[in-house]
Amino acid sequence: MAAQRINGTEIAQSIRDEAKTQIQSRLANQGTRPGLDVILIGDNPASKSYVGHKERACLEVGINSTVHRLKNDVTKQELLNLIDQLNQQEHTHGILLQLPLPEHLQPQDFLEKISPEKDVDGFHPYNMGKLILREPGLRPCTPLGIMTLLKRLPLNITGLHAVIIGASNIVGRPMAMELLLAKCTVTVCHRFTSSLAAHVKQADILISATGKPNIIQSDWIKPGAIVIDVGFSKLSNGTIIGDIDFETAKLRAGWITPVPGGVGPMTVATLMHNTVQAANTQSPCPTIIND
Ligand code: GUN
Repeated sequence: MAAQRINGTEIAQSIRDEAKTQIQSRLANQGTRPGLDVILIGDNPASKSYVGHKERACLEVGINSTVHRLKNDVTKQELLNLIDQLNQQEHTHGILLQLPLPEHLQPQDFLEKISPEKDVDGFHPYNMGKLILREPGLRPCTPLGIMTLLKRLPLNITGLHAVIIGASNIVGRPMAMELLLAKCTVTVCHRFTSSLAAHVKQADILISATGKPNIIQSDWIKPGAIVIDVGFSKLSNGTIIGDIDFETAKLRAGWITPVPGGVGPMTVATLMHNTVQAANTQSPCPTIIND
């Protein structure tokens, strides 16, 4: 039987609707909207497109968003100064530095300068550490979005074997921590993993985040597995594809995310959720005292 398609577009809409409702009640109770500042450096087309999606989502849910577009040759000091200014700005509740950065800039030099309570990407060492220690604060958007998808399935994932392909700071590593928190057994594969096929064949939950189409063969997929494809590659004819061939994988999987329309919209919706969380932590609604 063909796998059931996990509709990320639809679930992301429900997360944005939730954020919108929370923003409306914040506005009614204390009169301010959450504010998100995004820093976009250079003219990487994929980054420009992601930032466009984020701006549109902010507009939809009622977050005040500002995009700071910086030239590719921005200096380390100029970027640090901007982060410093945004850290101090009261109406900025969330700061997002769009990655990747140009080669002369090292992400870690900047990510750790963003105030942890404004770190809506969850990439600051403090927030990563909190996640590792099972006390999550602001959590990386793609892994948290995937957890939301998994929680919407009519399945208990406790004890399942999750195999993650890709060990990046953005997806693979925090994903492993989220799945551990959800009581899964976790394997992380990366470029030096030998016998990738053997690991994939054991996966009850397979999460691929390599950006390399066809790195996983569909006949490796365990029958009935939950398959989450984080890959997002553009072919020369403009078609967007994931790491996994959807048409053949769906013949073996139990559940599968499409690309596009799977994980991508969840990342953006989770950013809206995180921005509301950050705003409510920094300036909570006043307690109503009835006396
Ligand atoms: N580039 C690709 N994915 C992401 C993400 O989740 N956050 C940021 N800041 N940059 C990215």
